[in-house]
Amino acid sequence: MADASPDPRSAFIAALPKAELHLHIEGSLEPEMMFELARRNGVALPYASVEEVRAAYQFSNLQEFLDLYYLGMGALIEERDFYDLTIAYLERVHADNVRHVEIFFDPQGHTTRGVAFDTVITGITRALDEGEARLGITSKLIMCFLRHLSEEDAFATLEEAQPWLHRITGVGLDSSEVGHPPEKFARVFAKCRELGLKLVAHAGEEGPPEYVWQALDTLGIDRIDHGNRALEDEKLVKRIAQDGYTLTVCPLSNLKLCVIDEIGESPVKAMLDAGIKATVNSDDPSYFGGYINDNYHAVARALDLSLQDIATLASNSFAGSFLDPAEIETRQAEIAQALEAQGAR
Ligand code: HPA
Ligand code: ZN
Repeated sequence: MADASPDPRSAFIAALPKAELHLHIEGSLEPEMMFELARRNGVALPYASVEEVRAAYQFSNLQEFLDLYYLGMGALIEERDFYDLTIAYLERVHADNVRHVEIFFDPQGHTTRGVAFDTVITGITRALDEGEARLGITSKLIMCFLRHLSEEDAFATLEEAQPWLHRITGVGLDSSEVGHPPEKFARVFAKCRELGLKLVAHAGEEGPPEYVWQALDTLGIDRIDHGNRALEDEKLVKRIAQDGYTLTVCPLSNLKLCVIDEIGESPVKAMLDAGIKATVNSDDPSYFGGYINDNYHAVARALDLSLQDIATLASNSFAGSFLDPAEIETRQAEIAQALEAQGAR
């Protein structure tokens, strides 16, 4: 997003090392690339131009977005498409000073269209390896189960992932939330835990606080994606704060999907004030109109965040990551130094 007036927080945000913990790689498919891949693969799109695609990105809820998100995925067919998609995202966030990413991918969005699991993960991991070698961005891969599909489908996807578990750090749960509570996947997540995978789940984006409780108590997740509606339940807020769960909040996504009516309603500051480890992320940047720094800028201005708040958000992004403690400490020390250089400690 354009930032017309100079704001001292802008340069600070730009220079801070950050981790992105909530990013659907398929949601970083920019319309230009969608067209290029569709042309290359002979896939017909229901849009005449890039402008028409962008104009279609008006959503009044999660499902309206998901319908276009799955449609856009249709352009991704070959291994190099997944590579191109992933390397483009890494190059883009390199410019935002992102040092670590934990990327979601939705294998079922592809295997249900006849694209092999191996094709998807080979392309993504090739780009992630290059991203680390060439751009210095470390990464972890999180495989999401589509919650509108069945438990049986999720187990079948886990089976397909078996040869790749050395490249998959964790599993997540995404897609249509309401009507598909976390408990639907209790057995799948129990199996994933046995396999040593980290566990995360989208909860409380549109779904009620009860879904967040289930994600914690029934699935035993390590981190909560979104979690906005947790704030409606005081006991839940206390639990999240006391047990130190990280929440991956996505301000521009919340705005675009009408989870909030204006960016000033973003729960980021309220979460920090409640002692919750909130983080700022982009979710599906191509669809929601901004990458990670745009999200930081939006909440910094609308919530009048201090440099300390901004540094806390960046620090939380590493603390809440699945990096080794030593790597987390290194990044947190860099953030503390950047803050100190501003004389804001
Ligand atoms: N919520 C649920 N599923 C998703 C999202 C989201 O924000 N983005 C991509 N899949
Ligand atoms: Zn998401």
